Amino acid sequence: MKILAIDTSADETSAAVTDGRKILSNVRYSQILAHTQWGGIVPSIAKRAHQERIDFVIQKALKKAGQTIETIDYIAVTYGPGLSVALEVGIAKAKELSKQFNKKIIPVNHLEGHIYSCFVQNSRGNPKRPFQFPYIVLSISGGHTMLAVFDDHLTYKILGETVDDAAGEALDKAAKMLGLGYPGGPIIEKLASLGDRRYHYFPRPMRSSLNLDFSFSGLKTSFLYFIRTLSPVEKQNHMNDLAASYQEAVFDSLLFKLKDAVKKTGIKNLLVCGGVAANSYLRQRVRSLAKEAGGSVLFPSYPMLTGDNAAMIGVVAYYKAKKGAFVEDVLNFEREPRAPLTST
Ligand code: KG4
Ligand code: ZN
Repeated sequence: MKILAIDTSADETSAAVTDGRKILSNVRYSQILAHTQWGGIVPSIAKRAHQERIDFVIQKALKKAGQTIETIDYIAVTYGPGLSVALEVGIAKAKELSKQFNKKIIPVNHLEGHIYSCFVQNSRGNPKRPFQFPYIVLSISGGHTMLAVFDDHLTYKILGETVDDAAGEALDKAAKMLGLGYPGGPIIEKLASLGDRRYHYFPRPMRSSLNLDFSFSGLKTSFLYFIRTLSPVEKQNHMNDLAASYQEAVFDSLLFKLKDAVKKTGIKNLLVCGGVAANSYLRQRVRSLAKEAGGSVLFPSYPMLTGDNAAMIGVVAYYKAKKGAFVEDVLNFEREPRAPLTST
C-alpha cells in the first residue's frame, strides 16, 4: 500500500512516500533558519514558507520513491495538533490532490506519528522491531509532553500531560533567555555536556504531585530569576553549568514521572519519541531506568525520524487505512490545532 504523506504541523515542510512500515522517500525542508533570529516559530513566516515549498517537497518525495501521484493509493495528512496556519497548508494541498486525482485522504494525528516513528523501517524493512504491546510512551517535543499507554495499534490511554509548557519549549525558552538561538534543545545539550549539573539546584515542578502530569513554567521562571542575579561575566563563565543544571531539572521531571508510570501500570516496555528524544544524555538516563525496571526502551528507529517528518505520518496512515479510517467528507475536513490523541 503506497501512501503519500504530508506533515506541515510546525516548522518542517515534509512529504514522504511509504509502503506499509517502509520509507520509500522522506523529504524535509526545515525553516529553522527563518525562525532562529526570533527565538521561536513565527506563524506568518511558517505559513508562507510551507506554501512556497509544499509542491516542490511533494514532487521530490514522489520522484525519489519512483512514484507519481497516479501510482499512489492514498494521501495521508496531519490534521493536528500543531500550528493552525501551518497545518492548513498541508490540509489544503491534500484536499486539492484528493479531488484532482480521486484519492482518499487518511487523517493522521501528529502525536500518533511520533509514536509510530519508533516502528518506521527503511526500504529493506529494517529494523524489524515487531510490536510488543503494551508500551509506555513518553512523547516529548516543542509542542507537547505526554505520557500514555500504547495498548495496541491505534489504541492509547493518556496517563499525563503538561499543564503548561512542553519540555522542548522549556529548553527553547531557556536558550532564548541566554541569547543562544533556536531550537534551544540541541544547543543546551551541547553546553550541558561540558557543565556541572550541580552548579545550581532548580525546582522539579510537580515532583510530589500524585498524578502523572508535568509542569515547566515555574522552572522557567525560576531560571529567569536566577540568571538575573548573575553579572554578565558570571553568566558567561557559567554558561555550561547553567545549561547542565537547567537540563537536569527538565529531565529529572520527565524521568520521575516515567518511573511512576512504570510503577503504576506495571508496563516495562518504554517508548520515547519527539524532538527531545534526540538528546543522548536523556537517552542514557531512560536506558538506565528501563534496565533498573527489567524492561526495554525504543527510540525513533533512525535519527532523522526524531523530529517532525512525514514518513511517521505515512506509517500511522497504513494502519488507519487497514481499519478503513478515511476522511468521509473531504470538503469539510478541517485542521484541529489542539487535537488530542485519540484511539481509532
Ligand atoms: O518533534 P519536534 O521536532 O517538533 C514538535 O513537534 O514540536 O520537536 C522540537 C523540539 C524543540 O523544542 C527542540 O529544542 C527539541 O525538540 N530538541 C531537543 C534536541 N533536539 C531537538 N531537545 C533536547 N536535546 C536535543 N538534542
Ligand atoms: Zn512533532
